Amino acid sequence: MENKKIIVAIDGYSSTGKSTFARLVARKLGYVYIDTGAIYRAITYFAYTNGFIDNNRYINVEWLAGTLGSITLAFETSSEDGSCHICLNGVNVEKNIRKMEISEKVSQIAALPFVREYVDRILKRYGKERGVVMDGRDIGTAVFPDAELKIFMVASARVRAERRFKEIVQNGGKESFEQVLENLKKRDYLDEHRAVAPLVKAEDALLLDNSNMSVNDQLDWLRDILKARFGIDITI
Ligand code: DC
Repeated sequence: MENKKIIVAIDGYSSTGKSTFARLVARKLGYVYIDTGAIYRAITYFAYTNGFIDNNRYINVEWLAGTLGSITLAFETSSEDGSCHICLNGVNVEKNIRKMEISEKVSQIAALPFVREYVDRILKRYGKERGVVMDGRDIGTAVFPDAELKIFMVASARVRAERRFKEIVQNGGKESFEQVLENLKKRDYLDEHRAVAPLVKAEDALLLDNSNMSVNDQLDWLRDILKARFGIDITI
């Protein structure tokens, strides 16, 4: 008998490796993977490139609210390596949304209630049939409080900044380690203290501190949980 499909909600701090883990879990389960942070980033990129948000982080909220409904956001899967990319109005913006100028502004955009409502509607559509793995900040608390499996990922700020810094260097970025650490701490604070859907562990979420765990260690941990709780087998 085919296993019943579930929603796996993976929340946590930035650069805890949520997307790497979530993508792998989705592949193992044969589920759809949704990087919800990419949607907030794509909206920020849209706002920034259209002049709705400037370098002093002034946001033209009314303008953004009036225009948001007219954009299209969709995920496309690369035929080369199966990786998932976000497209804004039909254009792949996956690389652009990871740049520092977007990382610096995204928490402010993600704190706007109308933006959260807009994204929630998209996410609820993706989760309607279940069989999805979503990573973000509020999936287990606000978007899918009824998710069958909730995981909250944490790691020390230094470990997370090191991981992020490595990624930035690989992509040719010029930021210093201190800038990366600073940005990460600032985002932690903004995400934890915003009025709507702040970053917090759902009471029924399982804590995964991966400061000293490899991806395989994390998959081993999950394999046992999937088997014990849902009778689902995955191979590592
Ligand atoms: O996971 P990430 O760093 O790509 O997320 C970018 C920003 O989007 C992050 O600062 C918080 C916000 N975010 C959110 O508020 N809710 C989500 N479900 C996902 C991301």
